[in-house]
Amino acid sequence: MKQTKFFGLNMSALFIIVLGGLLLTACGTSNSTSSSGGSGGGSGSSGGGSSSCASPPKLSKTTGLKVGFSQNENTGPWRLAETKSMQDAAKAQGAQLIFTDAQSSASKQISDVDSLIAQKVDVIVLAPLTSEPLAKAVQDAKAACIPVVLIDRDVDHKLASPNKDYVTFIGSNFVQQGKLAADWLIKNTGGKAKIIELQGTTGASAATDRKTGFDNEIKTAPGMSILASQDADFNRDKGRQTMQTLLQAHPDVTAVYAHNDEMAIGAIAALKAAGKKPGKDVTVVSIDGERDGMNAIINGELGTSVQSSPFFGPITFQTISQYASGNKIPDWVVVQDLQYTKDNVQQYIAKNAY
Ligand code: AHR
Repeated sequence: MKQTKFFGLNMSALFIIVLGGLLLTACGTSNSTSSSGGSGGGSGSSGGGSSSCASPPKLSKTTGLKVGFSQNENTGPWRLAETKSMQDAAKAQGAQLIFTDAQSSASKQISDVDSLIAQKVDVIVLAPLTSEPLAKAVQDAKAACIPVVLIDRDVDHKLASPNKDYVTFIGSNFVQQGKLAADWLIKNTGGKAKIIELQGTTGASAATDRKTGFDNEIKTAPGMSILASQDADFNRDKGRQTMQTLLQAHPDVTAVYAHNDEMAIGAIAALKAAGKKPGKDVTVVSIDGERDGMNAIINGELGTSVQSSPFFGPITFQTISQYASGNKIPDWVVVQDLQYTKDNVQQYIAKNAY
């Protein structure tokens, strides 16, 4: 059979050369992806492309770190205190902190993390808004070989897990916080109360777990019942508005459990506007221990606030430094909290309020 020739080569030879060239190009591409993932997914990270990243990705740099901090929102005393704590600790460590504010949007927080990845940070500290959507941000960082440390809220472990997809979760025991608030309420109402529960942001681990801890404990006291339980987004004004609405449906309420102080302060305002006396007609309990919450305990309107520390800076940088030095980090670095009541709040307000 007659063969067509190109530059003196027959078609079979040409096909072999072209195929070989394509294969070489493909190998070259995959190698370059690997190495760019290695240096960079983060300038101080190690490992190759997503397939060759360690689980979780390693951090080989111990000094001069470029740290990305993805905050889920930056309003309200608790969030502002957390952000300041991170900024102060970064400064003390000589680290560069690149800050992003997701403004309460899960999709913005995912793109914020993607932008930190593009800026080749060494490590990402993520305070996830909600636990399912933000698992994607963890996986994006892992694919770029950048280690992630979660602070204050966790992600769904079915979608991303500690010591595999991310380094660790540093945070409070939210279930225990809810339980402590319930125990105090049972004790201080003689085990008899009709409760309105104001929940934090739906899908946030802080809200899910605080509800679980409280609701399960309340079930152990037959005289306690939850009249209504509604999301008020950890926000003072939403707490006030939600309480105002729920009060109309449940004027017989005798207790309020708010998942944070901001919503409790809002609920106290709504109770007063409806002619009820918080602390007398209605017992209010909450979580956080911000300055306004502590002052409300002092003036008798708030019964207790279980502390949830926002001061993550020092422990986060300490954990990062231990990880960079090759130490094994536990899946959960548990933050130990206090519980404020009228008996001890004066002793802590100067040091712990924010
Ligand atoms: O995740 C912690 C919670 O989030 C705090 O209790 C609350 O005030 C904040 O918005």
